[in-house]
Amino acid sequence: MSDAPLLRHLRGERGESEDTSAPVWFMRQAGRSLPEYREARGTTAMLDACVTPALAAEITVQPVRRHHVDAGIFFSDIVVPARLAGLGVEIRPGVGPVFDHPIRTAADVDALPKLGDDYEAALDPIREAVGLTVAELGTTPLIGFAGAPFTVASYMVEGGPSRDHLRTRALMRTEPETWHRLASWVAELSGRFLRAQVLAGASAVQLFDSWVGALGADLYREAVLPHSAEVLGAVADLPVPRIHFGVGAAHLLRPMHEAGATVVGVDHRMRLDEALEILPEGTPVQGNIDPAVLFTSEEVRFAEARAVLAAGAGASGHVVNLGHGVPPETDPQVLTDLVAFLHAQR
Ligand code: CP3
Repeated sequence: MSDAPLLRHLRGERGESEDTSAPVWFMRQAGRSLPEYREARGTTAMLDACVTPALAAEITVQPVRRHHVDAGIFFSDIVVPARLAGLGVEIRPGVGPVFDHPIRTAADVDALPKLGDDYEAALDPIREAVGLTVAELGTTPLIGFAGAPFTVASYMVEGGPSRDHLRTRALMRTEPETWHRLASWVAELSGRFLRAQVLAGASAVQLFDSWVGALGADLYREAVLPHSAEVLGAVADLPVPRIHFGVGAAHLLRPMHEAGATVVGVDHRMRLDEALEILPEGTPVQGNIDPAVLFTSEEVRFAEARAVLAAGAGASGHVVNLGHGVPPETDPQVLTDLVAFLHAQR
């Protein structure tokens, strides 16, 4: 397993092999683009599915079976830990996570549940799901993940999805103390969720800070970096690569690396070779096929894939991914063919 192409590239050990192709997986590879997912989920609510171990394991394995991607990504969600800690949150189809009670004041933060032994026990279905998944995946590695404090806290403060995260960005400045206490609560929540996955058998982790691109670098360094560092620090003593990913975060690549990542995920807005110039020498990268090419011709898709491989060729390790998640409307055959194309480039 430690020889798996995904793990060699995530460790920056591509140079030690003849194989110059890049392994591939897709963010949101499990989910509505797959008929077998819609079938398995049936009418089970998203967050209920996440805490049903056999179902979560089955859904995680589905895209590996179908597309032959080089990794499974654990089927869960960035708000699952909040649900397990006892907060009222649901995922509304077509909308995203919605919290019953937005967290906007010092008193709201005071009232957050304590993360004690109860929370540790509540993580049991996650451990069980990871164990079942790893057994099923065999030699294909499983990537565990968590949501980063900014992105998760932004859902909590806004109460649901938001385009510009204005309330959150305002709170960070008007009540920095309240913000830091909230972000630090989320950091512990996500860190323990992540650690549980690794101890149960995940071979690598990804910290998703999807919406962090809304922040400037100074605010990121002061208000976010220490908290994201705490999440990544929760698994830093374990032998797993740590990927850190944000959308529209080209201006944050260095601080996101400094937060304790060993690999940086880059979205499709930035060239991988430019990212490599910004990051410390030898940093492996992940990315960054524009998801829009999934809706073009094969000629356009394969040209984009070749360009992404070329831009990542100078990296010590390159894991191919999309610049963001698989859109639900994607024709799954397009993904299967893209994986086969990438695997044929050896
Ligand atoms: O294949 C995978 O990537 C595995 C699992 C995964 C899900 N969510 C499953 C999911 C992962 C890694 C996530 C992370 C996640 N969740 C992020 C970070 C990644 C990113 O996309 O930027 C974010 C921002 C969320 C919050 C969230 N959860 C959103 C915005 C949505 C979409 C709502 C919708 O219906 O459009 C979800 C729901 C969700 N999470 C689905 C899946 C498979 C869809 C559930 C369904 O079937 O209706």
